[in-house]
Amino acid sequence: MSGVNKNIVILISGSGSNMAAIVETSLKQRWQARFGARVVAVISNKVGAQGLAWAEEQGIATHTLDHTRFSSREAFDAALMAEIDRHEPTLVVLAGFMRILTPGLVQHFEGRLVNIHPSLLPAFTGLKTHQRAIDAGCRFAGATVHRVTSELDHGQILDQAVVPVLPGDTAEALAARVLTQEHLIYPRALERLLNPA
Ligand code: GAR
Repeated sequence: MSGVNKNIVILISGSGSNMAAIVETSLKQRWQARFGARVVAVISNKVGAQGLAWAEEQGIATHTLDHTRFSSREAFDAALMAEIDRHEPTLVVLAGFMRILTPGLVQHFEGRLVNIHPSLLPAFTGLKTHQRAIDAGCRFAGATVHRVTSELDHGQILDQAVVPVLPGDTAEALAARVLTQEHLIYPRALERLLNPA
């Protein structure tokens, strides 16, 4: 695989802990030497997203596209698509990117677009997944890495992790427990995509 560049572009909106886990794993597991793969850019729709500073410190190109400055979802996604395309990505990785994507963008990156969602899909698509799992009386919760289709939080499941819901759990406590697992399964799923058996 070496010799072929496999560029990874990561999209974030917030703290970027999944992004950091992916970057760290890519370095530790020598993705560049093994698959020609590296994280070439991190793009945020939120000005000052915490993860951007970390990415910059790692020497990764960062870019902010403030969605509030666009008149429509289509206009934002057109600009986003152009920015992502500049990096000729093999994978476009949504890591806490809190935007609903237009069908045009999803289609443009078909086969290259992946997401992580903090629930055991197909349960609890959408927002507030941890509180909803607690309220429903779930004994288990988790996270799912999946391919992105134009239907929100659907698409082929690539990996999942399960954690217990403990008595007295708050949404915050459960989210933190799930997040530790996200940091394991997201890099693992990407590595499999970069290096299919
Ligand atoms: C993660 O828990 C991720 O699963 C979730 O946002 C968090 C981002 O954390 N994503 C979604 O809810 C997408 N619908 P991070 O910025 O620290 O990676």
